[in-house]
Amino acid sequence: MELKIEHLSKRFKDKTAVDDVSLTLTSGVWGLLGANGAGKTTLMRMIADIMVPTNGAIYYDGQDIHEMGKAYRELFGFLPQDFGYSRDFTVKDYLEYMAALKDVPARETSRKINHLLDILTLSDVKRKKIAKLSGGMKRRVGIAQAMLNDPKILVMDEPTAGLDPGERVRFRNFISEFSHDRIVLISTHIVSDVEYIATRNAIMKDGKIVDVGTTDELVKQIEGKVWTCTIPARDLDKYEMRLRIINQRGEDNNQVSIRYLSDKSEIEGSITISPRLEDLYLWLFPQADLSKEGN
Ligand SMILES: Nc1ncnc2c1ncn2[C@@H]1O[C@H](COP(=O)(O)OP(=O)(O)OP(=O)(O)O)[C@@H](O)[C@H]1O
Ligand SMILES: [Mg+2]
Repeated sequence: MELKIEHLSKRFKDKTAVDDVSLTLTSGVWGLLGANGAGKTTLMRMIADIMVPTNGAIYYDGQDIHEMGKAYRELFGFLPQDFGYSRDFTVKDYLEYMAALKDVPARETSRKINHLLDILTLSDVKRKKIAKLSGGMKRRVGIAQAMLNDPKILVMDEPTAGLDPGERVRFRNFISEFSHDRIVLISTHIVSDVEYIATRNAIMKDGKIVDVGTTDELVKQIEGKVWTCTIPARDLDKYEMRLRIINQRGEDNNQVSIRYLSDKSEIEGSITISPRLEDLYLWLFPQADLSKEGN
């Protein structure tokens, strides 16, 4: 099973949002990482066949997805970044409505919905109006609707935005299980959400896929470039000006433990530590806003 993206581009008037992307997705979880405006949503919308590419095409096991039409939609599930809810529906009514739209056989609908409500811990609120749910619950209703037709290809644009840490762990586990023999593509700014479950990650920058690999393969390129040391708190300002400090933690005795990125040791006593995917992300996207990270 494969989804082959070939020379895909999307140009808006004055902007090339996706720039000649070629990528073959095979079964497993794929993380799509990139800063704001990198082109992730635009790419996903083309994979969902709701946006027409300016150039290029996408093939599912050799067939052009646009030509497959309904046959593609039957095996595809999508969670958009800005998910429009029908606010007056209850959770259950909404999912029943979506199941009907997706041609889920009526006799399976109720079992499917109950199962999804259960794994997404929404059973208690199934009779509540969607408008009255919390942000994280609404996001989970969105995830449920994307999975109603038991999709072979599941694309989710920032599924974990707004989920609390407990729900994020649950989500990771169940997506990991779900992904056997399916293609799951997830975009996220919370790198730790895909770090351990993604079979592979694709890193997107300015409309291009700049790197693809397993987490281990990707972080290798910054092996020996992640440093930690302890400094007096009063020196922090000085170091912040010239170093890429990616984490700092106050210690006793006016000391601060810092983690920084550099080709070489910049402060005496620094030791290298194993890089994580987030370190690579920050290495590639120096301007990334750490306050968005929700660990
Ligand atoms: N309909 C549109 N018309 C014009 N420009 C657009 C349109 N949609 C997206 N863009 C532009 O294309 C670029 C990529 O946007 P996109 O939404 O795909 O990025 P993203 O990686 O999903 O960002 P984010 O992390 O903020 O969700 C941005 O510069 C955006 O302004
Ligand atoms: Mg987006």
